[in-house]
Amino acid sequence: MMKGIVLAGGLGTRLHPITKGISKQLLPVYDKPMIYYPISVLMTAGIREVLIISTPDDLGGFEKLLGDGSFLGMSFTYAEQAKPEGLAQAFIIGASFIKTDPVCLILGDNIFYGSGLQQKMQRACEMASDQNDPKATVFGYYVNNPGRYGVAEFNAENKVISIEEKPLEPKSNYAITGLYFYPNSVIEIAKTIEPSARGELEITSVNERFLQQDQLNLELLERGYTWLDTGTVDALSQASDFVEVIEKRQGLKIAALEEVAYEMGFISKEKAVELAKDLEHSAYGQYLLERFK
Ligand code: DAU
Repeated sequence: MMKGIVLAGGLGTRLHPITKGISKQLLPVYDKPMIYYPISVLMTAGIREVLIISTPDDLGGFEKLLGDGSFLGMSFTYAEQAKPEGLAQAFIIGASFIKTDPVCLILGDNIFYGSGLQQKMQRACEMASDQNDPKATVFGYYVNNPGRYGVAEFNAENKVISIEEKPLEPKSNYAITGLYFYPNSVIEIAKTIEPSARGELEITSVNERFLQQDQLNLELLERGYTWLDTGTVDALSQASDFVEVIEKRQGLKIAALEEVAYEMGFISKEKAVELAKDLEHSAYGQYLLERFK
């Protein structure tokens, strides 16, 4: 079974002073904590066992918020990352959690929205789980500032031929998003890559290795999708605005975990109503009560 990891550590220095006293991934994005968004993505992919990695200081806040996950029909466990030594360290920290399974990593500050993502993720799960021909999947998204991200280069047949981390001269506008599906071999690969010039075990080095082995599938998230990160104050505020606009227009919420759990069949209607009642003092809880009527 595909395991999930949410990486929610880091120092959040680009958001100081906001994040001096609280983890970035616990900050609100409109009406819910940031980490709800990536967790909802994993749930939509059918992933039930999730490891949440954060700093020793912040881990308690996540545990308080999310517990063991059983209220959502999920299993959440927690692990510390002592220092932010790179995204790929998640697979070393998480090795005993992943065991012999394939794994999906999502960054705790990435927001994905768009219909069709579930099917794309199911395909990625199948490819990573294939015993004979396992393949990793990463997602490319067209942005106006690719140099801030991992960037894909394509050949004439639209096949990815390189991925570069924060290149000064990006070879395309396609950023690699913070959602990655890997076969179990990712643990060994993470253990053998070298730290980059900035002293981090880069996820891009992991992806390069899968590419060299001809085991990297790049799936495009076309322009109808929304992919936002929340790395700066502006990006955070824009993400909140985006969620507010969509939610007010539709009257439906993005990433309401209790609703996702119910719709995925992880919890019963009775359980869903019980969860909604616990939250009845907030507009979020009122929304759930209405949805579960
Ligand atoms: O958002 C997608 C991008 O994420 C990718 O395109 C890049 O290839 C990838 O390197 C990463 O780039 P960033 O520069 O955005 O990574 P950043 O260092 O900001 O870390 C992303 C999140 O992960 C951030 O919320 C903090 C957290 N983090 C980061 C590191 C390095 C950790 O929890 N632990 C870490 O060791």
